[in-house]
Amino acid sequence: MKNFWKQLSQPIIALSPMDGVTDAPFRLMTSRYGPPDVHFTEFTNVEGLTRNAMMMLDDFLYSEGERPIVAQIYGSEPESFYKIAIVACELGFDGIDINMGCPAKKVAARGCGAGLIRTPDLAKEIMRQVKRGIEDWSNGRSITELGFKQKMICRIREMNQLRSGKEENPERKIIPMSVKTRIGYEQVTIKDWVQHLLEAEPAVISIHGRTLKQMYTGSADWEAIADAAEIIKKTSTLVLGNGDLNTPEEVVKKIRLSGVHGVLIGRGCMGNPWIFNYKNLLKEILKSPPLQSEASSIEQETISAEERFKVLLEHARAFEEIKGEHRFSAMRKHFGWYCKGMPKAAELRNRMCQTKSSHEVELLIEDYRESVLL
Ligand SMILES: Cc1cc2nc3c(=O)[nH]c(=O)nc-3n(C[C@H](O)[C@H](O)[C@H](O)COP(=O)(O)O)c2cc1C
Repeated sequence: MKNFWKQLSQPIIALSPMDGVTDAPFRLMTSRYGPPDVHFTEFTNVEGLTRNAMMMLDDFLYSEGERPIVAQIYGSEPESFYKIAIVACELGFDGIDINMGCPAKKVAARGCGAGLIRTPDLAKEIMRQVKRGIEDWSNGRSITELGFKQKMICRIREMNQLRSGKEENPERKIIPMSVKTRIGYEQVTIKDWVQHLLEAEPAVISIHGRTLKQMYTGSADWEAIADAAEIIKKTSTLVLGNGDLNTPEEVVKKIRLSGVHGVLIGRGCMGNPWIFNYKNLLKEILKSPPLQSEASSIEQETISAEERFKVLLEHARAFEEIKGEHRFSAMRKHFGWYCKGMPKAAELRNRMCQTKSSHEVELLIEDYRESVLL
């Protein structure tokens, strides 16, 4: 039994999963320029994967430097969760996280993501099936026994080979199961909801301080997270808070307010992998009671335009290498985030959003340097 979560120094500062954002190339940047204590993949649908949707396996691409890395999955069929838990184990993930927080209509209306808040019995069954998959895999169950097409099995082996040099994962260890959720569906019901979740004994419960109904509006309710933390801290499960942590200062403030074991940072790291650089300083500061002078010592330093361009280009090149130039349009959103606040940022962003390759981005940066920065 290896629960890596328990071995991390607290407070844990982790990267929040964001579909379409925190993919393997992005995480390569956070692992180089942060790193956070834990990485999560973007969420992946278990039913699609169970039906051999090969493309979805790309969400499970990662590099060894991202460890500990947790595979996040979503869906509504317990049997599919069972099978994909085995796949995640075979792919060498350090943990499996179940998404019970996504508010998107196409997810929640089908009873997945935050939709599970309304069906606690199904949510608990899903958690049990993930645990059963992890256990069966540790006892020798193979991905070849689950009805997958040969091409899926070959791709899983190929991913293992490319990442670790071995086709099969030899380490049949038990990995931790965790859950990421919201404070309620329409109303704040987190105190009752966590009692349900705790019955299945997850290693961690991460809580985004908004209801499904709120989507991303208003601000995260850290008082509700604090209420949940009080309950969860009476058990061996860890609690991570999440929502609106955009600066190191906010992180310190909200950890003090809520008493959580750690936090997840989402939008605050868009175009800003450096935010995780502050994690050790934050841990140090949180060992002592609040000091008046602490705010200035944890203010994030301005990252120079040159450094931002360097990382932006590195990111774009990694994107091409990992996901292919034909998908480059999915990289463009990052450009605006990296260039935020630079002189003539809007014009630069508009031009960058028309590029089709990292080479074009490189030329554009040179042009910008000459015409604007020099
Ligand atoms: C573009 C985007 C995609 C997201 N995708 C996921 C996801 O795949 N899984 C998940 O658990 N949460 C997802 N989230 C929610 C974030 O992980 C996080 O809970 C939320 O953004 C609040 O935290 P923040 O204020 O630090 O961003 C997503 C959020 C955004 C903005």
